[in-house]
Amino acid sequence: MQIRPLAPVDIAAVMALVRTGEPYIRVRADSDYWLYAHLFADTCPVAVAGQQLVGAAIAFRSQRDPQDVYVQDVTTHPRWRRQGVTRLLIDDIRRQAARWGCARLYLTSEPQNRAAHATWLALGFTNMPGDYQSDGVAVTADFKGPGKHRAVYQLPLT
Ligand SMILES: CC(C)(COP(=O)(O)OP(=O)(O)OC[C@H]1O[C@@H](n2cnc3c(N)ncnc32)[C@H](O)[C@@H]1OP(=O)(O)O)[C@@H](O)C(=O)NCCC(=O)NCCS
Repeated sequence: MQIRPLAPVDIAAVMALVRTGEPYIRVRADSDYWLYAHLFADTCPVAVAGQQLVGAAIAFRSQRDPQDVYVQDVTTHPRWRRQGVTRLLIDDIRRQAARWGCARLYLTSEPQNRAAHATWLALGFTNMPGDYQSDGVAVTADFKGPGKHRAVYQLPLT
């Protein structure tokens, strides 16, 4: 398994990969992936097995809070799940964030996404206290805008 930065040549493959993660993740426009590959590749690792792109993560350093790296999307191909792909992708982002001297990674997921909840806890993230609980998950109301309630997770890097 090779972990390397997203490259422009990966765009079609990464879009096909992200579609396999629906409904909890949505594919973005090819121009968005162009931007990630050209401007943000240091925090957008992909996992490659043989010739196949089997995992991808998209993350950005915050301009408002430069101590923060926000992980926007993570997808592992269904045939490659539970084999440590996300662990490798998050480790790669962690290393880059640490090189920059950042203090934490954070991310959100849909409150019903049990696999994501289990993954973030297994990787050492904390589910941040929110406005209410849903099946044991703390949820922050309207985190991503009106009606867009999210479970929020953070991983301190110290
Ligand atoms: C959530 C997702 C990214 C996890 O990716 P993954 O590559 O399978 O995760 P890993 O193999 O690195 O798992 C690391 C640990 O997380 C936990 N975990 C992962 N998936 C789990 C599941 N379905 N149920 C319970 N625990 C799980 C386990 O503890 C696992 O370690 P283990 O397999 O040794 O027990 C993947 O299921 C996925 O792509 N889902 C669809 C898209 C999505 O929901 N993305 C996240 C949006 S926020």
